Amino acid sequence: MKVLVVGSGAREHALVRALAADPQVDAVIATPGNPGIADLALCVSTEGGATDPAGVLAVAQRYAVELVVVGPEAPLVAGVADELRAHGIPVFGPSAAAARLEGSKAFAKEVMSAADVPTGLAHVCANLAEVEQPLDAFGAPYVVKEDGLAAGKGVVVTADREAALAHAGAVLAKPGGLIVVEEFLDGPEVSLFCLCDGSTAVALAPAQDFKRVGEGDTGPNTGGMGAYSPLAWAPPGLADEVIERIALPVLAQMRRRGTPFVGTLFVGLALTARGPRVIEFNVRFGDPETQVVLARLRTPLAQVLLAAANGRLAAVEPLRWDAGSAVTVVVAAKDYPATPRTGDPITLPDLAGGGAAGADGAAYVLHAGTALGEDGTLVSAGGRVLSVVGTGPDLRVAREQAYAAVAEVALDGSHYRRDIGLAAERGEVSVPSGPGQGPA
Ligand code: AMP
Ligand code: GLY
Repeated sequence: MKVLVVGSGAREHALVRALAADPQVDAVIATPGNPGIADLALCVSTEGGATDPAGVLAVAQRYAVELVVVGPEAPLVAGVADELRAHGIPVFGPSAAAARLEGSKAFAKEVMSAADVPTGLAHVCANLAEVEQPLDAFGAPYVVKEDGLAAGKGVVVTADREAALAHAGAVLAKPGGLIVVEEFLDGPEVSLFCLCDGSTAVALAPAQDFKRVGEGDTGPNTGGMGAYSPLAWAPPGLADEVIERIALPVLAQMRRRGTPFVGTLFVGLALTARGPRVIEFNVRFGDPETQVVLARLRTPLAQVLLAAANGRLAAVEPLRWDAGSAVTVVVAAKDYPATPRTGDPITLPDLAGGGAAGADGAAYVLHAGTALGEDGTLVSAGGRVLSVVGTGPDLRVAREQAYAAVAEVALDGSHYRRDIGLAAERGEVSVPSGPGQGPA
């Protein structure tokens, strides 16, 4: 089978790596890909880029691929999956209509309400006067979200009422800007990816993401500075509960609306004292969580994603997982996330064995914002530059592996968080206990 992967980040590098390892896969093509992906796949750039449906279709047809896997949300919202499906090409990724689950937080809330999915209370506001009432009703910390796609930067969580109002004002000043004011959900966050074929859903292993730029969860939000999986502290039945209470009802609701959901339903959860609550949906694999989830998946990936694309997920065997842990640490460019500097030369660690796993673990480097300079040297080309993965029999070894490799990366001005997975390694993460544990 030939597979096309759309996108250019470390998530796509992880997808390409897993797909290329599937014995049923003869070749992987990526558009546009990146220099790390180019070691495993043929990288093809198009004039219109990954968000141009006609351009992606042309690549899929030129190489006669039998499956397309779309990484980022922007191509999905732009209708890339619709265009491929209209031409009979199996695609793992939702239609533009179904991608509204991520593209509009107000729409996601409406679907959750119709499907009776546990989530926080929320108000959609079209002007500043409407914002104050729910802000005061919910109280601090205030959660104020831009309705549309904002690359993880549209959400402000703050104890400062003025800052909450200022964010709302800035968003509402944009044409068509809408604000969602939400109840604050207290508890550790979990990312759970549910592979969906329109009616059936299969959960991948839960992961945790570190969104803030600074250690101890300080500083501004980013696309994600690191992740680990599995989560020893999460309730054992969490994935089953999310499938039953969240994914399947949402799939039924989307089918009823004539917009069936095929692809990854990324359920962002807070594990609160009252049970798991949905913080958000995304309609694609998460970055950097995918890097650690796929590091542990032992079932060949292409067959599962093809089954999902073809509506045959119910026939897939239960997924098999490595019992160990995986950690990824993002190496970010100078001044990320504000104004990342690009064009700096990168020296990669010399990793013996190319990341082959053993009892002592292993490490490998996935590329995100990298490019080849005119003389062929590897240079930084984005905010998140590398995603270094460590694996091992437990979290401690996986962290050691990841950080030993990160220490060997040379990139002027770069920074990374030293505390990815640290609290979990120390047994310091727990779900708040309270009345009525479990789904309310
Ligand atoms: P989102 O883009 O909706 O995932 O929000 C980004 C981040 O903001 C989440 O990962 C949470 O850390 C935080 N956040 C969003 N909504 C809430 C909420 N209702 N309660 C607490 N934290 C939230
Ligand atoms: N890591 C969170 C995301 O991909 O949105």
